[in-house]
Amino acid sequence: MKKLFRAIALVLTFVMLGILLGGCATTPTVDKIKEDGKLVMLTNAAFPPYEYTSGGEVAGIDVDIAKEIAADLGVKLEIQDMPFEGIINAIKSGKGSFGAAGMSITEDRKKNVDFSIEYAQSKLFVLVTDTETEIKTPDDLNDMTIGVQTGTTSDTYATDVEGAQISRYGNFLDAAQALKSGKVRAVVVDELTSNEILAANPELVRLDEPLADEGYAICVQKGNTTLLDAINATLTRLIESGKIQEFMDNNVTGLAESSEEPVG
Ligand code: ARG
Repeated sequence: MKKLFRAIALVLTFVMLGILLGGCATTPTVDKIKEDGKLVMLTNAAFPPYEYTSGGEVAGIDVDIAKEIAADLGVKLEIQDMPFEGIINAIKSGKGSFGAAGMSITEDRKKNVDFSIEYAQSKLFVLVTDTETEIKTPDDLNDMTIGVQTGTTSDTYATDVEGAQISRYGNFLDAAQALKSGKVRAVVVDELTSNEILAANPELVRLDEPLADEGYAICVQKGNTTLLDAINATLTRLIESGKIQEFMDNNVTGLAESSEEPVG
């Protein structure tokens, strides 16, 4: 009997070890990243000015930051564009090195990933059409149809609005189109992206009163401290040297530019 227990204990030990080692194998530590020679950024590139496509390339504030992290590590940067709501799970399972997607720090997300230091502050705002007469403050959203991007903090916020029906889109630009065409009465969206949407769509307006204050950070797999430390070191340097502000200034016209009519 004793022997049997010992045998079972031994088998269990090996199984546990296997799981642990297997877990380690998928963790993109700094050593692993240097070995591979590349840093893989997961994002959802329809969130100007943080990420957008320009001339077939992904650009934006987060891309500028990621390039600096890659340079500091001496590796090249690869960007993978994917649905926003899949980023946390992908990072959790070791796909990609980090998530950089204008991602707000939330308690819920902290259960699944580790966040870097905060590199930007934001607020959620409500957009409506300029013919809207009933929605004047966020309190008027009750019982309305609200457009959001799936899996974002806007989604969480809107889902809590009493009686509201939520229409979920793959990105905020599609949600803004739905607002223009009357499919939804309002869109809840992050501050800088709302600026971009307003610049490109003169028939949309923003309510003065913001809904919530948020902070953006980069996420890594839980416990990946070597990478988190490297990211935080680069972010600290970029924040202190005013570089992040420079990236913000350089990327503000992403959407407005790409939707502009060609001159001449
Ligand atoms: N800040 C919001 C959030 O964390 C929206 C981010 C959307 N980002 C994107 N790249 N589409 O939920």
